Amino acid sequence: MSYKQEYQSSIEDPVAFWAEKAKLIDWYRFPKTILSTDEHGIERWYVDGELNTCYLALDYHIENGRAEQLALIYDSPVTGKKQSFTYLQLRDEVALCAGMLKDLGVGKGDRVIIYLPMIPEAVISMLACARIGAIHSVVFGGFAPPELAVRLDDATPKVILTASCGIEVNRVIEYKPLVDEAISLANHKPQNVVVLQREQATASMQAEGDLDWTERMQQATPADCVPVLGTDLLYILYTSGTTGKPKGVVRENGGHAVAMKYSMSAIYDINPGDVFWAVSDVGWVVGHSYIVYAPLLHGCTTILYEGKPVMTPDAGALWRVISEYQVKSIFSAPTAYRAIKKEDPNGDLAKQYDLSCLKVIFAAGERLDPPTYEWLRQTYKLPVIDHWWQTETGWAIASNLYGIERMPSKPGSSTMPVPGFNIDILDDEGNKLGSNEQGFIAIKLPLPPSCLTSIWGDTERFKESYLEQFPGYFATGDGGYFDDDGYLYIMGRVDDVINVAGHRLSTGEMEEIVGKHPMVAECAVIGRSDEFKGQMPMGFVVVKNTSDSDNSEAATEIVKQLIKMVRDEIGAVASFKEALIVSRLPKTRSGKILRKTLRAMVDGEEYTVPSTIEDPAALEEIKALL
Ligand code: COA
Ligand code: AMP
Repeated sequence: MSYKQEYQSSIEDPVAFWAEKAKLIDWYRFPKTILSTDEHGIERWYVDGELNTCYLALDYHIENGRAEQLALIYDSPVTGKKQSFTYLQLRDEVALCAGMLKDLGVGKGDRVIIYLPMIPEAVISMLACARIGAIHSVVFGGFAPPELAVRLDDATPKVILTASCGIEVNRVIEYKPLVDEAISLANHKPQNVVVLQREQATASMQAEGDLDWTERMQQATPADCVPVLGTDLLYILYTSGTTGKPKGVVRENGGHAVAMKYSMSAIYDINPGDVFWAVSDVGWVVGHSYIVYAPLLHGCTTILYEGKPVMTPDAGALWRVISEYQVKSIFSAPTAYRAIKKEDPNGDLAKQYDLSCLKVIFAAGERLDPPTYEWLRQTYKLPVIDHWWQTETGWAIASNLYGIERMPSKPGSSTMPVPGFNIDILDDEGNKLGSNEQGFIAIKLPLPPSCLTSIWGDTERFKESYLEQFPGYFATGDGGYFDDDGYLYIMGRVDDVINVAGHRLSTGEMEEIVGKHPMVAECAVIGRSDEFKGQMPMGFVVVKNTSDSDNSEAATEIVKQLIKMVRDEIGAVASFKEALIVSRLPKTRSGKILRKTLRAMVDGEEYTVPSTIEDPAALEEIKALL
């Protein structure tokens, strides 16, 4: 089957296409209804199917001859620890953890927040929730207490699962005080906090509901898989939107399992039994889909790496892991590859290892810039595939469909739409644009399985954020174009979301935080291009009672305080390190801040001053400061 045939059949008859793909997984009850519309007018896949994602990821393989195959390899250069789990061992740990959750009263539909570093317990607890039909919400360990508090109030979990600490290269970050602070900030108080004590730090157990992970596991009895409906939720994953309130992207069990399973062969050309490595964090969607669920649903061995691409101990780390565990495909963010390129431009460290096992290098999370694409290809002499996706979809929207037909890659392009994603490029009024014309990237409804069907607890926000801009379409928030050969180029966000070192962040949220400083009259935060991290946030701040751009000591002090505020409220990952004090912000006469013009000016690109500008001197002032 060629890519074109596969793609066309998914677009011409999505129901038949996804009914066929549904057979890839072992349902308890195969869905009679493949696609239906719910009471909100939203399309849902496999509504009456019954399955259990944890069963499919573990027990199914044990019943089918993979009990002794490695399911999970944990490699932690920051602690010097390595550990592996066969499918049988992992299932037993997961069943016990599910039993522990059940003992705490967690059942179908209850939420559990997982705030854990990259340790096996993170994978175990996600699968344990899936086993009993509970909904997990993993919060990235780099987020600060206020971020965790917002998620607590929104997801209202019964239990938080955490550890005494995470480790950033050689810095031990104690988690328990962060969790305690988040709980004190939140209105919702979880019933229990279960803490895994790690050797590097001991958490102090404060409240009545604080429990010791190891003790609770010892008391637990294994729990069985609970059948859930295709549309029952597997998880909520919060992601940055344009405001301070993150969006709880919901993922349904049925569509997710089918899409994950299909993607492993169609996109990644991976067979059951292969070793697959997504170098990401379980706190991000890539970690959910390709560290945990997809490789296990496909019967592969997956790797959980508690380290960095550089510094732990050097830029050879990824290649060491690949050769040690015979990894067939690697998948990481372009920033990670750029970090290696910076330290080891000639790929000398990789030459120390036998990398004959490695067949393809995948990249996603931000645009793979052509110089890094070329460097990867030439240095490692392997195919390099950039593929585009979002937390909202849970899997790639555009890619080289490597397992179906190996198309030539083009630098700067994420190749072609993945089967199921019917993509159009639209102008502001929703008219379709032709090839080489840049516009809003929109996906025609129905979205394929695995994509979000709501925002947790807020279907109206889901509709407003994604479905109302272009009726009949899902607005991705990204801009781009197709070339004459039908290759898709993603040119960046068209909203206030930025991507810093593969971490998705909201400039709107940063503006809200900066705006809270008593001396700040108004501000704008934009993402400026950064050679290493892709983008970096940059603030423009108008201070109360000044009429000038100000570089005085007092102004420097305010900037320092703003940087600290963003770090304390979002976390170090925000990388907010730069702000300019200006006398006024460039705005249109109707008061809209000219963020796009600011971005172009900061990046040294050509820009035209809009005729609607209120005060051209505002731009001139900034130009002089840069
Ligand atoms: N917990 C606590 N702090 C964290 C953290 C975590 N899990 N992850 C990052 N941070 C901190 C870092 O220590 C750093 O702190 P600092 O400002 O005190 O130095 C800050 O957040 C910024 O981190 P980052 O932007 O990641 O930069 P870095 O220089 O530490 O690392 C890379 C650079 C390239 C190694 C790293 O960004 C990386 O691996 N990126 C890939 C991201 C990814 O996998 N994304 C998923 C999509 S595929
Ligand atoms: P996240 O939801 O964290 O996965 O971030 C999704 C956003 O990252 C997308 O909306 C894009 O802006 C960006 N992104 C992800 N992958 C790519 C890619 N391959 N090329 C360009 N941008 C990407």
